[in-house]
Amino acid sequence: MTPTGSSGDLAADRRYHWALGAAQSRDFEAARDLFGQVLDLAPHWAPAWFGLGESLEGLGRRAEAAAAFREALARDPGDCAGAALRLARLSGESPASAPRAYVKTLFDQYAEKFDRHLTEVLAYRGPQILLDSVEQAAPGRAFAHMLDLGCGAGLAGEAFRAKTACLTGVDLAPSMIAKARAKSLYDRLVAADLLDFLGEEPAASADLAVAADVFVYTGDLDPIFAAVARVLIPGGLFAFTAQSLVEGAGFRVGDDLRFAHSETYVRDCAAKAGLGVRTFSAAATRKDRGADVPGWAVVLAK
Ligand SMILES: C[S@@+](CC[C@H](N)C(=O)[O-])C[C@H]1O[C@@H](n2cnc3c(N)ncnc32)[C@H](O)[C@@H]1O
Repeated sequence: MTPTGSSGDLAADRRYHWALGAAQSRDFEAARDLFGQVLDLAPHWAPAWFGLGESLEGLGRRAEAAAAFREALARDPGDCAGAALRLARLSGESPASAPRAYVKTLFDQYAEKFDRHLTEVLAYRGPQILLDSVEQAAPGRAFAHMLDLGCGAGLAGEAFRAKTACLTGVDLAPSMIAKARAKSLYDRLVAADLLDFLGEEPAASADLAVAADVFVYTGDLDPIFAAVARVLIPGGLFAFTAQSLVEGAGFRVGDDLRFAHSETYVRDCAAKAGLGVRTFSAAATRKDRGADVPGWAVVLAK
């Protein structure tokens, strides 16, 4: 994601926009030079360090790119731009999750075109795949209270509305919540981190939790599974998608800056949270540059 804003120095801002233009045309050498000029004028400015990191990564100068991303992170510890994910991609060492400020900024910027872009360009089918998985795990079952974790603009709400008497959605990005609200599908919508939200929900207060295409922004699933298990009634279901890590164990940030999880890791997290596996299937929820992105569709039961 490209950071925006002002450095506080007009000459630096002008060069920054030229640098962004060069980077967009994939002229990484020119971009590197221009971001360097910006930093001569505004050495404190995180977006220029981030841009320099991207240009250096584009030039294949990985160690220097990592150093620039570290400078960006030091100047913006909240990490709106996602420098920590860039570092993870360069080093192979994954953080526990994507920076919250990064996810919030990304989806606040994306909200307006989200539904159409996802369904028309990326051929996104996460909610429908989860609806089918839940139907397979519990044919014909209706639910009293569903939690839509990372509800975004409400695509999973649309898919599941007829199956649940009460529908609650939570999302980090207020603009996505506003989009979901405009659909008048949800009984309750909350703008919050899903883990904070789950911590505030009464125990045994939901019989279905759904997270469609959300765990690509979280590596460590242990705390989330434990929190979901607490709010589910006995027999309650937890349906989610994840991107699959085919080689290696645990979870990792991939070239697409998303987290992928191994099957063993997901099964271990479920077992630790006291959740049994009802269905565990390979499922591609969307495409990337025309090719299916391999993933899992999973239904767990308390
Ligand atoms: C790719 S979208 C999917 C939205 C929706 N579930 C769907 O299927 O259309 C991912 C959503 O998860 C939200 N998200 C990611 N991490 C989150 C977290 N820790 N807490 C709350 N929302 C989160 C993002 O803000 C974004 O709206």
